[in-house]
Amino acid sequence: MENHNVLFSKEDIQKKVDELGSQITKDYEGKNLLIIGLLKGSFVFVADLMRAIKQPAAIEFMTTSSYVGDTTETSGKVRIVHDVEKDLTNFDVIIVDDIIDSGLTMSEVYKLIKERLPKSLKTCVLLDKPSRRQVDFKADYTGFEIEDQFIVGYGLNYGDHFRNVDHIFVYEEEK
Ligand code: IMP
Ligand code: MG
Repeated sequence: MENHNVLFSKEDIQKKVDELGSQITKDYEGKNLLIIGLLKGSFVFVADLMRAIKQPAAIEFMTTSSYVGDTTETSGKVRIVHDVEKDLTNFDVIIVDDIIDSGLTMSEVYKLIKERLPKSLKTCVLLDKPSRRQVDFKADYTGFEIEDQFIVGYGLNYGDHFRNVDHIFVYEEEK
């Protein structure tokens, strides 16, 4: 693949995930941690993050959908394709996603989960594009802040491609 502009190598990502895991381990000592990963984008990140957390953690997944087909533009609506069924009232919940872009996904999911009265609720993302926000939202744990670029790899996709690439790179359309 030409045009391969690597933004974060496998090693960069691993280092950052370990840092996030250590911070969460410290902050959630003695708590009843439940991670909710947002599919599909977060599946690689959440698997690595779980293993970097050195204390018990339960896992659930929710499938959200905001992009239509292969486009890099958001549809402006968040659809819950698969929901969490578990009773959350006994859990200290962290919602985990791959990236915050417009902020719509995280703010919608946050509201929805909050209504189910978890003991506490925080959010964690590997990547953040603050310049793209349509709604005000800041995650409690953020890996990297990046410019307004469309990126793929490490769970992030373009259509059906690149989720299984072990690093993150800037996707540029073939000219
Ligand atoms: P938001 O609702 O606009 O914040 O978008 C969040 C979702 O859009 C993420 O869960 C990603 O799946 C997707 N997304 C946002 N930016 C990118 C990108 O640069 N590459 C791939 N997917 C992205
Ligand atoms: Mg996606």
